[in-house]
Amino acid sequence: MSPHELDVDQFALTRRDNLTTLQSHILAGQAKHPDATGTFSWILSAISLSAKVISAKIRRARIDDVLGGIGNTNVQGEKQQKLDVIANETLMRCLGNREGVAIVASEENEEPLIIQRQSTRDGRYVVLFDPLDGSSNLDTCGGVGTIFSILRHDSLADTVEESVLQKGTRQLAAGYVLYGSSTVLVLTAGAGVSMFVLDPLIGAFLRVADDLKIPKSGKTYSTNEGNRRSFDPGYQRYLDWAQENGYSSRYAGAMVGDVHRLLLQGGVFLYPPTKKSPEGKLRLMYEANPMSMIVEQAGGKACAGKQRILEIQPKALHQRTSVVLGSPDEVAHVLEHL
Ligand code: AHG
Ligand code: MN
Ligand code: MN
Repeated sequence: MSPHELDVDQFALTRRDNLTTLQSHILAGQAKHPDATGTFSWILSAISLSAKVISAKIRRARIDDVLGGIGNTNVQGEKQQKLDVIANETLMRCLGNREGVAIVASEENEEPLIIQRQSTRDGRYVVLFDPLDGSSNLDTCGGVGTIFSILRHDSLADTVEESVLQKGTRQLAAGYVLYGSSTVLVLTAGAGVSMFVLDPLIGAFLRVADDLKIPKSGKTYSTNEGNRRSFDPGYQRYLDWAQENGYSSRYAGAMVGDVHRLLLQGGVFLYPPTKKSPEGKLRLMYEANPMSMIVEQAGGKACAGKQRILEIQPKALHQRTSVVLGSPDEVAHVLEHL
């Protein structure tokens, strides 16, 4: 063989080595539904674009002087960071005024935003999101995320609320983006969980795992133990038991970071009701539900006390819930103590 001839066998890519972008993953998913119009795929592409824009802004935050609060509180009474607002606007710009999206609802807006007022009845999807999760980590360069949930718009619903307030079991897709040491997007459309990493050099999310499964067990619990004294006795008994049994504690202060760790390494995440947040702190529709769908699709469990989170009938967009989710064996250990 001359030095200029390539040994194709040597360079042959195995199936496992094939590069798959998020875009081609989405198109392959669409191809499995011959009646698909592409609208759903388009929404996922818009979310992917938002994730790239938000990621770029976060990476430059201190240079561009967009850290810190804006001096406002959002509808939940929480201090808004500059980047909360920027991330929210980015998602609104990417998803707004596009065919197929009827309603967009965000943690940062009091009311759901109706897109294309005249054709709300034609829009087929409702998109809900937490634009920036764990935003109080920003000033110290800690991990933050974006969480999203996609529902089918009920065009027969009498009110916007009625269309939005659907149980988590009705989600068509859910996912999160973690802006950590790399930017990772985890997605489920109801047939397993896939993980993508943003390659900043080429500006594309590349698939790194398909049909991701959560470890069945993992001796790590993740909770804000500063609240321990105001947890119900059952949660305190669980923490005693875990500590007696050699568990480690890890807490990122951003649900996205904590869930990502337990998805890969196993463990359990708990945010029980506290004195300050008697219903729990996390929001059902755009934090607990999408994370629960991902965890369940990966083989884990997600409960609010003893109830399955995905079966809670929401009564309000910004409703809160308690959360216990993670490896099936670890969630079972928590429930045994409640
Ligand atoms: P957000 O920044 O969107 O308001 O969410 C923060 C949430 C969640 O990500 C995290 O798990 C939790 O709040 C942390 O709360 P504590 O500081 O009370 O532990
Ligand atoms: Mn959040
Ligand atoms: Mn947020």
